[in-house]
Amino acid sequence: MDLLVKPVRTLRGTVTVPGDKSVSHRAVMLGALARGETVIKNFLAGKDCLSTIDCFRKLGIDIKMPVAGTVRVRGRELHGLSEPEDILDAGNSGTTMRLLLGILSGQPFFSVITGDRSLRRRPMARVTGPLGLMGARVEGRRNGNLAPLAVRGGRLKPITFTSKVASAQVKSAVLLAGLFAEGETVFTEPCRSRDHTERMLRQFGAEVDISGGSIRVKGHPGLTGQKVNVPGDISSAAFLMAAAAALPGSDLTLQGVGVNPARNGIIEVLSDMGAEIEIFNYRQEGAEPVADIRVSNSKKLSGISVGGKMIPRLIDDIPALAVAAAMAEGKTEIRDAGELKVKESNRIYAVADLLAGFGAGVEELTDGLLIRGGRDLKGCICKSHGDHRIAMAAAVAGLLAGGETVVLNAECIDISFPGFYDVLKNIRVE
Ligand code: S3P
Repeated sequence: MDLLVKPVRTLRGTVTVPGDKSVSHRAVMLGALARGETVIKNFLAGKDCLSTIDCFRKLGIDIKMPVAGTVRVRGRELHGLSEPEDILDAGNSGTTMRLLLGILSGQPFFSVITGDRSLRRRPMARVTGPLGLMGARVEGRRNGNLAPLAVRGGRLKPITFTSKVASAQVKSAVLLAGLFAEGETVFTEPCRSRDHTERMLRQFGAEVDISGGSIRVKGHPGLTGQKVNVPGDISSAAFLMAAAAALPGSDLTLQGVGVNPARNGIIEVLSDMGAEIEIFNYRQEGAEPVADIRVSNSKKLSGISVGGKMIPRLIDDIPALAVAAAMAEGKTEIRDAGELKVKESNRIYAVADLLAGFGAGVEELTDGLLIRGGRDLKGCICKSHGDHRIAMAAAVAGLLAGGETVVLNAECIDISFPGFYDVLKNIRVE
């Protein structure tokens, strides 16, 4: 499906964005390992999270979706999964594959997991390495680095592991495997990545200690089914926030968005660029902080330098930020973001390709992007690279550009933001 995008004058109104992808995945996973029922509200019915549901059904878990947005998981406790008869398919979802590898490592059975073309190219050794140290046998192409991966799980030993990458997926895989190990598993990260797993493990009753950059989890906890209200996904909100921030005269309110401090870097960076952002109705919903976010703009944004510890706090929002940067006055430099190369596409290349197509000044760096803002963007025909966040960045650039834009193969947007186009229609002011 190709998406036709026409320019807008401003963006105005109040909208909600779909549920958080990271939280939705984890709620299904912990629900499956808990005693009793877990009821998930505002579940993201995007393709990635549906892949997680499909995998857990193949592992013998009863999961129902009685009404849109509600998922009921009948937990079978820590040792209740059963050997899948067929290959597990994580589709496009790195979170499904990496977190599930942690869980499968602790199972007394054999399983095989694969994914689509993009996922089969993404590095898995960062996860299979530490899981191997815990005693799991994981085999795959390129020495266990590429899916399909075959897992012979079993008794695990706890490890004390220091990760070189700030990755919540690696951390979560090890912590989830740690549930099946005798004793305490310790994971240290180089800088803080999203902590949804730690928060939700505590909510379900696991013992998790966090001090400095180290997280400790005790093996064999009794997990109990919970009610999980999934907050709106800040990484979906980011596209609308970036567009409103870049278009003078906009006034957009996003209701019920997750504002976890490990994820809310985009709010800080857009504010530093000159957007007026108001956070209100701040509340705690279950394990996660939630708020309403109002973005308005009366002037042009200015360029900014982003790097270091900020990067994991907005890693998924860099395509959106890059579009805002192209509209800003002056230079924006994004550094320490080499991880972008191993996302659903090589996002350093894909963002540079995208912005260049719109006539923006952009340079690929080995670990980021250099964007010279302020040139008028011109509508164009652009590729999605099969990556949902690149397709949405292209659509947002299309709103801000002169003339029409066509985003080719935009169906991938359904991975994380079903209904994206309808939301855009509701907030556009011609
Ligand atoms: C995610 C972690 C991040 C992020 C991804 C979702 C998660 O990946 O980019 O979209 O749910 O844990 P890394 O952990 O590889 O940085």
